Amino acid sequence: MMSVLLSLSLSRLGLWTSGLILVLGFVKLIHLLMRRRLMIKAMESFPAPPSHWLYGHAFEMNQTESLDKVVSWAHQFPYAHQLWFGGFLGCLNIYEPDYAKAVFSRGDPKAPDMYDYFLEWIGKGLLVLHGPKWFQHRKMLTPGFHYEVLKPYVTVFADSTRHMLDKWEEKAREEKSFDVFRDVGHMALDTLMKCTFGKGHSGLGHRDNSYYLAVKELTMLMQQRLQSMQYHNDFIYWLTPHGRRFLRACKVAHDHTDQVIRERKAALQDEKEQEKIQKQRHLDFLDILLQAQDEDGVKLSDTDLRAEVDTFMFEGHDTTTSGISWFLYCMAQYPEHQHRCREEICEILGDRDTIQWDDLGKMTYLTLCIKESLRLYPPVPQVYRQLSKPVNFVDGRSLPEGSLVSLHIYALHRNSAVWPNPEVFDPLRFSSENVTGRHPFAFMPFSAGPRNCIGQQFAMNEMKVVTALCLHRFEFAPDPMRPPIKLLQLVLGSKNGINLYLKPLGPRSGK
Ligand code: HEM
Ligand SMILES: *[C@@H]1O[C@H](CO)[C@@H](O)[C@H](O)[C@H]1NC(C)=O
Ligand SMILES: *[C@@H]1O[C@H](CO)[C@@H](O)[C@H](O)[C@H]1NC(C)=O
Repeated sequence: MMSVLLSLSLSRLGLWTSGLILVLGFVKLIHLLMRRRLMIKAMESFPAPPSHWLYGHAFEMNQTESLDKVVSWAHQFPYAHQLWFGGFLGCLNIYEPDYAKAVFSRGDPKAPDMYDYFLEWIGKGLLVLHGPKWFQHRKMLTPGFHYEVLKPYVTVFADSTRHMLDKWEEKAREEKSFDVFRDVGHMALDTLMKCTFGKGHSGLGHRDNSYYLAVKELTMLMQQRLQSMQYHNDFIYWLTPHGRRFLRACKVAHDHTDQVIRERKAALQDEKEQEKIQKQRHLDFLDILLQAQDEDGVKLSDTDLRAEVDTFMFEGHDTTTSGISWFLYCMAQYPEHQHRCREEICEILGDRDTIQWDDLGKMTYLTLCIKESLRLYPPVPQVYRQLSKPVNFVDGRSLPEGSLVSLHIYALHRNSAVWPNPEVFDPLRFSSENVTGRHPFAFMPFSAGPRNCIGQQFAMNEMKVVTALCLHRFEFAPDPMRPPIKLLQLVLGSKNGINLYLKPLGPRSGK
């Protein structure tokens, strides 16, 4: 009797549960459909490239040619077009300076539909935050990038680079082409750890290498998630193997961060006893975070602290790795520019083999070439915003509050209305004569406006030091059998690495 009753109530419970799930699913579907209708309505004055009703442009975007696909759409649809990541997530994709200015000169928040995928990994750090808390953190961290703080980093960049170049000397002996991307990545992580996190000059450990690999995995998984509608819902995503892979990689990254914070906290304890040391030293990024407190003396919470460390650890090495690697590819492709840069560097260095702060300002031609390579290969090719108020564009079209906007920096930098023969590598585009009169929002590798890159100067300095030393020691040539295949993984990468032939320049290179 009891068991009959029990099974009856159990089956009734099962019925209720499935009923509830069905209703919830239905409500969610209605919600999605209504949102889709609103998005379509908001963007009705903008054309949409042909798309699948359910997958949107996922098929076009989920390919290695997706960046150049958007460039071809940009030719077809001036200013902007609709872009759909699945049937329920659409944004306006823009790639024209006036359009970019209309949105990026204001401080609209990051689009949660895209940036919330970051939360599990880098938390609410500077990249994702908005409102007063973003403002507070930005104000607090800006002194960490003052030029007095950046000055001594030049030596750190040079040391890490020399380490990498010594390794390349060995590899180059085999007279085969090899992938530079990976080594540059390790070098960039090494310098970042030393500069911003004050890690000793011990080189990268085993744990740092795991971190490097975890970041690679995380950026790949995040880009795939963004582009795959079935992964958009958090609840479903964490149940999939894809989501579990993401969580595993997050764990590796967080262990790394926790260790960095732990080590520094311990070091600070020591230093409290010897305040002298503390006074001598310039506050670096991590010092600032650990000592920061607002007007009421409230310190950063551990969660906030970790989010900032995770944010800078990722933003500070992956981007410069991409920038330096693609720059070397450009140099390999264009020997005449490579030659001119090398002449300039040799002239500045004379018989020195190290770089000093004062040298950076003299690297005129190298700087033009770095900018031109950032134009053709922007390390961050696409960023997103959600409009906090309506925006009116120059041609009279507009978007209502709440709309999502994607700025396609890659397509903006290849917009032929701004850049004649956009595919041609021509550093003179950035000569001061030629820059005058160009739209200030035509070139924005570091984004622009209030939410621009806080590490811009750090990054430019690092790129100058590293590439100057590379060109001083080696001649770079492309491998025609293995051209890079551009791959968008939040940051611009290459599916098969960047394979180059390196020829040591011998004693002249000043070893
Ligand atoms: C070539 C190298 C770099 C490039 C191309 C680059 C590019 C960018 C871009 C485009 C943004 C805007 C992102 C968005 O709107 O979602 C950004 C933001 C940011 N970058 Fe960089 N970045 C580089 C290097 C660095 C470095 C070296 C650091 C730190 C050491 C850094 C830290 C940040 C942070 C914290 C933000 C968020 C700033 C905010 O929203 O207030 N970046 N970066
Ligand atoms: C395309 O997306 C699917 C998931 O939807 C993924 O499994 C696949 O690896 C992606 N392909 C490329 C080339 O990124
Ligand atoms: C300006 O750019 C054009 C085309 O890129 C180039 O031919 C010219 O020399 C540049 N002018 C200067 C002053 O650099």
